[in-house]
Order: sequence, then structure tokens, then C-alpha cells
Amino acid sequence: MKVLVIGASGTIGQAIVAAISPQHEIITANYKSGDLQVDLSDPKSIQTMFKKAGKLDAVISAAGLASFASLSDHTDNDYQLALENKLMGQINLLRYGREYINKGGSITLTSGILSRQPMPGSASISMVNGALESYARAAALELESLRFNIVAPAFVKETMELMGMDSSYGISAADTAKAYIAALEGDQHGATLDVTDYI
Ligand SMILES: NC(=O)c1ccc[n+]([C@@H]2O[C@H](COP(=O)([O-])OP(=O)(O)OC[C@H]3O[C@@H](n4cnc5c(N)ncnc54)[C@H](OP(=O)(O)O)[C@@H]3O)[C@@H](O)[C@H]2O)c1
Repeated sequence: MKVLVIGASGTIGQAIVAAISPQHEIITANYKSGDLQVDLSDPKSIQTMFKKAGKLDAVISAAGLASFASLSDHTDNDYQLALENKLMGQINLLRYGREYINKGGSITLTSGILSRQPMPGSASISMVNGALESYARAAALELESLRFNIVAPAFVKETMELMGMDSSYGISAADTAKAYIAALEGDQHGATLDVTDYI
């Protein structure tokens, strides 16, 4: 399959590319590097990326920015970032990308476990993760020629190490990639794939 991976230079994205590149043709799109560049918060940039990529069998997004902050410290900018980048940035991949997907293909976006297992400081991240999962359940009812799913990663071991956290309960990026492979090659539609179910 010809697969566009957005966020391919990231911790999870690199593991997805490593896992699927033996079987599939990959086009990478990152913010600063990759075959194509894209800014998820800019709808025109998303439209340009799809025009350049051409017809595809699948899109996988392992990108989307949102920030941790306590509820009292959450600023307008924190909410705006979560809504414009992680939420609408990814939803716009479905809105603008669906016409480029060959029949029977798929689009997979990324939420995160914080939708269902929140922690103090995760309010805006949990908000958009939950919205992505609800959106996919509803949108799938109207999408007949492609499958549309969400992957919900748990904390990734490598990310926790980068943040100086105890990574003993983290899930490696390589194991996290397994849920994306299931979304790419399986038959789910409108589903949220919890990474913990695929390791
Ligand atoms: N890592 C975790 O523990 C974890 C857990 C749960 C959920 N998630 C979710 O998984 C996704 C990926 O996480 P990650 O940790 O792998 O991220 P990451 O390592 O920080 O990588 C982010 C990727 O997104 C790209 N990017 C940055 N800003 C962008 C923009 N405005 N438009 C388009 N692309 C942009 C980066 O490109 P450049 O390299 O060019 O900047 C990079 O490829 C995110 O949605 C995150 O919330 C992660």
C-alpha cells in the first residue's frame, strides 16, 4: 500500500515507519523534515500536502500538539493549541484527505489514553482525545469507501525517558506501532484501538 505517515520523525512515527516500511511504500510528512512538510494547524498546508502526495491507500497521523497544564494555569493558548492542532488538525486530515484515498483504504489518527484515564494537568489533552474518538465513531457511519479509526497510545517508554520519568510502566514505541499496523491492515471502522490491546 502507499501510506502517508504524518509525524513520521516523532517517537511513535519513527516506530510506525520502521514497522510498516518493509511491506508498504511510505511517504513521510513532518513539520520541518520528511518527503513533505505540513502544519496541522493550517488547513491550506494540509490541502497542499495532499495535492503533492496524490492518490494514497492510507494515511496515518502520529502527530498533534496539546499541552499539559493545571486547570487553573490553562490559558486560552493552551485550549487553542489543543483544538487547532491535535483536534482539528487531525480531523482536517480526514476532511481534506478522504478524496485522495483509494477505495478500501484507511485513515488512522492518534488520540491517547488520557481520554479515558485522565491525570491532573491533562484537561485539554483529555478533551481533544475524547473528541477524536467520538468523532471517528460518528464519522464512520457516513464513510463507505474507506475505514477511519483512532489509535490511543499509552505513555511511551522512550517519551518518559526523555522527560526524566520512571519508564517502567511505559510501552515501547515499537509495541505502540502494533496498534497502527492493526488499524492499517485490519478491518476496524470507527474504532478506537487501545495500544494495550495489541501488545
Ligand atoms: N509519546 C507518548 O507518550 C504519547 C502518549 C499518548 C499519546 N501520544 C500522542 O501521539 C502523537 C505523537 O506523539 P510523539 O510523542 O510520537 O510525538 P513527537 O515525538 O513529539 O513527534 C511529533 C511529530 O509531529 C510533527 N509535528 C510537530 N508539529 C507539527 C505540526 N504543527 N504539524 C504537523 N506535524 C507536526 C513533528 O515533526 P518535526 O520533527 O518536523 O517537528 C514530529 O514528526 C501525539 O498526538 C501525542 O499526543 C503520545
